[in-house]
Amino acid sequence: MKKIFSLLFIITISVFSQKALLQSGPMLGPTEMRETMLWVQTTKAAQVKFAYWDKEKPKDKYETKTALTKEEDGFTATLIADKVEPGRIYNYKLYINNKPVDLPYRNEFKTLKLWQWREDPPEINFVTGSCAYVNEPVYDRPGKGYGSDYEIFTAIYEKKPDFMVWLGDNYYLREVDWNTRSGMIKRATHTRSLPELQPVWGTVHQYGTWDDHDYGPNNSDMGFIHKFKALEVFKLFFPMNSYGINGKPGLTTSFEWGDCEFFMLDNRFYRTPNDRKTGYRGIFGEEQIEWLINALVSSNATFKFIISGGQVLNPVAKYENYSTYPEEQQKLLSLLKAENIPGVIFLSGDRHHSELTKMEREGTYPLYDFTASSFTAGIFTQPEDNEWRVGEVIKKHNFLHINVSGKRKDRVLKCTYYDKDGKEISVFTLKAADLK
Ligand SMILES: [Fe+2]
Repeated sequence: MKKIFSLLFIITISVFSQKALLQSGPMLGPTEMRETMLWVQTTKAAQVKFAYWDKEKPKDKYETKTALTKEEDGFTATLIADKVEPGRIYNYKLYINNKPVDLPYRNEFKTLKLWQWREDPPEINFVTGSCAYVNEPVYDRPGKGYGSDYEIFTAIYEKKPDFMVWLGDNYYLREVDWNTRSGMIKRATHTRSLPELQPVWGTVHQYGTWDDHDYGPNNSDMGFIHKFKALEVFKLFFPMNSYGINGKPGLTTSFEWGDCEFFMLDNRFYRTPNDRKTGYRGIFGEEQIEWLINALVSSNATFKFIISGGQVLNPVAKYENYSTYPEEQQKLLSLLKAENIPGVIFLSGDRHHSELTKMEREGTYPLYDFTASSFTAGIFTQPEDNEWRVGEVIKKHNFLHINVSGKRKDRVLKCTYYDKDGKEISVFTLKAADLK
């Protein structure tokens, strides 16, 4: 009896200590047909690895390599599951120092389906949004906390999306954080560790770009002296398959899911100051716009989502939107028109309210900019008079759920805004044929 008790004691202690070593995650990163990224953060240096197996073939178990988490990386690690096949669901198990960690939600990831030349594209479900402020009173501005309604992440988890696209302000650097690498890591760690987010990280594949607050100070631009540190830290917390174009630093990249493609823009690294009176003025820079147009022209995707931290189409030149940089905005819009690219849709964040902007264009289809903001940060209650707004402005915490379904030649996009409790606010439906 004594022996059993001491064995139980050892098991309890070791399970407890494994949990104590887990800082945040695990998190599902980008997934492809033959590779999936799995991320985790520990509280101190530890060996981490994932075991995984096809849900329908549980006897065939595979493992990622083992990584040792290091202090300079915030004890984060991204591991690759590369013994996967397309279009499968896998169960996974995290090991810290060779001991399994039990997690109280379904431990599953998926790989992209090989549908091309074979069948209709799969149905797609994803969530998007921006501005996740998590209070930390000791470093926050005095007064009422800017963040609230963290249960919105439970509502997102309950929608069971395949993946999630973060539109920026994914964490909010404060004065204490943005001048040092370790400060930035502490901030990203604090937000990443929010209890309500853990089931979302563990069950939904994550993709992200940034806006000003996860890059640097409010409204920061290319002149921010610590932008390379900010880029390093962002990469530690949002693993992507590639970062930057033409060998240059930044977050620009693209990824596919079914017959949708996502063009992730970086609206900070090359942004010129809003008050600059001489020289080039722009948010994305000429090189990024050229890349975007090239990538769009070559894309076969039915829906081509252009992802930007800030609004692109809102015509009122105010705050930080693209209309405050009219020359570069015109350049992008006229290239989109001249190249006659079908299926383009913008997704943007930043505004702390949500709205849909529709820009009519002569001789071609209208462009739409779905702004989704904010998850938990304070709401901006006096939005300007955007005459191209369709429907009501949403002045509460919300997220945007996008469903793509239908036969290959007849795809339908259903965009639904939900509130923090997962209650429907508004729905917009577009057909692929509407964007030609
Ligand atoms: Fe924000």
